[in-house]
Amino acid sequence: MDDAMVSVKRIGVLTSGGDSPGMNAAVRAVVRVAAQHEIEVVGIKHGYYGLINDEIADMTPHSVSNIIQRGGTILKSARSEEFRTAEGRKKAAKNLKKHKIEALITIGGDGTFTGANILSNEHDVKVIGIPATIDNDIIGTDETIGYDTALNTALDAIDKIRDTADAHERMFLVEVMGRDAGFIALETSIAGGAELVLLPEELTNIKEVKRQLNDMLQHQRRSSLVVVAEGDETGGAIKLADKIRGDFAQYDMRVCILGHIQRGGSPTARDRVLASRLGAAAVKTLVEGHSEIMVGIVNNALKITPLRVAVAKKKDLDYSLIELAKQLR
Ligand code: F6P
Repeated sequence: MDDAMVSVKRIGVLTSGGDSPGMNAAVRAVVRVAAQHEIEVVGIKHGYYGLINDEIADMTPHSVSNIIQRGGTILKSARSEEFRTAEGRKKAAKNLKKHKIEALITIGGDGTFTGANILSNEHDVKVIGIPATIDNDIIGTDETIGYDTALNTALDAIDKIRDTADAHERMFLVEVMGRDAGFIALETSIAGGAELVLLPEELTNIKEVKRQLNDMLQHQRRSSLVVVAEGDETGGAIKLADKIRGDFAQYDMRVCILGHIQRGGSPTARDRVLASRLGAAAVKTLVEGHSEIMVGIVNNALKITPLRVAVAKKKDLDYSLIELAKQLR
């Protein structure tokens, strides 16, 4: 072993919060790269819920065969209320000790990292975070695992909606996921040539929305497509339709909510490669002595961000893309 490396013999890996395509590829990379360092890996099922309830089993390089192409997560995911309590986290730490788990690799988003950070502070547990959420709202990485797949799934749906919108000369309000972040909405609106996009990051003025739509419809556009992020303050596409339908009575307005379709499916090549890189990097940084950090890729290079920093701030949208979307209408 290299002098600079620390000895780690047994680690745990879990997936938590909303699943995202590519989580399996990340688990696979963790298990296989750990094996090369002679580190045993245990899989913890159902995220923190399973850690509290002792759903822990050994994994081997063979046990992660044939999963790189699968969406979802073989480790399952859950949101645990109990883990939000000090008592719950105490049980989790006790199980880590019982199974001789020296460090925990947590794959997920904001909530997952917040939990990992608190567990680490309270019980001195070594943790490494791998950012995986379709929302792409984690700082310290250009993209999170699953974002590219979700984006392409949403875009494929929008292209199809565009066909039928055009055929019937209808107005479609399409809601995409993103409770707090507009990454999917913004990029699908540009790639799908949407007439308008409503984002949680920007105040929505209904009067202005009506004016812009009217304007476009006056200028020969017989069909139109509005992308609405789930977290926009109008309350989503259904509520937006209720607010504007009266003004567009001559158009046959339809609402389509893409929902959880965006969370499933086989990960894109880009997500598989990202997940493989981050899974390997998580193990590498751990044996190099890091902990309480998140691994990310920025400008094609590994970036290490302290977990407390990663959970303190949301990633900003690229405002030049908002401008671009407006220019291309
Ligand atoms: O994974 C993130 C996310 O997709 C959000 O955009 C969405 O609001 C949320 O998950 C919904 O998750 P669930 O259905 O698990 O509550």
